[in-house]
Amino acid sequence: MTDVVTIKEVVQECYDTKTFRFDWDAEVRPGQFVMVWVPGVDEIPMSVSGIDGGTKSITVKAIGEATRAIHEFKAGDRLRIRGPYGNGYDLSSGELLIIGGGVGTAAVMPAVTATGADTIIAARTSNDVIMDSVAAGHASNLWIATDDGSRGFHGNAVQLMKERMAEKHYDCVIACGPEVMLWFTFKACQELGVECQLSLERYMKCGAGVCGCCVMDDSRVCRDGPVFRTSQLEKLTEFGVSHRDECGRNIRFR
Ligand SMILES: Cc1cc2nc3c(=O)[nH]c(=O)nc-3n(C[C@H](O)[C@H](O)[C@H](O)COP(=O)(O)OP(=O)(O)OC[C@H]3O[C@@H](n4cnc5c(N)ncnc54)[C@H](O)[C@@H]3O)c2cc1C
Ligand code: FES
Repeated sequence: MTDVVTIKEVVQECYDTKTFRFDWDAEVRPGQFVMVWVPGVDEIPMSVSGIDGGTKSITVKAIGEATRAIHEFKAGDRLRIRGPYGNGYDLSSGELLIIGGGVGTAAVMPAVTATGADTIIAARTSNDVIMDSVAAGHASNLWIATDDGSRGFHGNAVQLMKERMAEKHYDCVIACGPEVMLWFTFKACQELGVECQLSLERYMKCGAGVCGCCVMDDSRVCRDGPVFRTSQLEKLTEFGVSHRDECGRNIRFR
């Protein structure tokens, strides 16, 4: 479904990230994403970062041409979006621990507001932390981790996750963030015998399972994901290892 929505509010989350709120009456599940058309530039995938009845939002980190162009949009401007796409998180998996790393925090925030589960937000520095005020209003417990120790726990999301798991039993970890963070989250969950649901990013063109450019082994990340469970992650040979760029070239993470 393609819709034109009118931006009603723009929130500066941090120096390079903004949230755009708009009225959109589509049914969206936490963890789903939309394709955002940026006139004259590109059409790119963006997680839905807020689901509040008919009001939805996307949260955009300016890193290149299309995301910088979105940052120029103001309240009253119109956005063309397609979706929602993808499977979303299963939030009925017992006691949840939700983890957002960097701009990946945007993808997990609807799960935080829907469940009120314990939440970790991780970032490189205190200046990179986003959406903590939204999480603080909903999460039972909110912990912040920064790589440089400038705010909260001094260390990364996985180190803090292990500390929290030593103190409380969780049935499932829900996370989105840089793939290296997701890989180590997956490994730690395997060691601890805890289920996880991780939202993966791959280069996407159609977002709807047609073009095949987001393929990982026999899965299309846009349609079969972006959220994958432990049993699926175990079989994805490219997870944590490599991804494909816009030309289909294989780029290694490690
Ligand atoms: C399911 C999904 C959800 C996402 N959610 C968010 C979000 O909530 N907030 C956010 O800021 N970013 C999100 N992203 C990443 C976002 O789509 C890219 O940052 C954006 O496309 C970059 O475009 P650009 O022109 O600004 O940068 P470019 O300079 O064109 O690209 C910078 C990098 O972004 C990635 N990228 C570029 N185009 C695409 C594409 N069509 N599909 C996937 N990755 C691409 C590539 O890794 C590339 O190296 C998401 C990506 C996916 C796949
Ligand atoms: S982006 Fe086209 S199949 Fe996934």
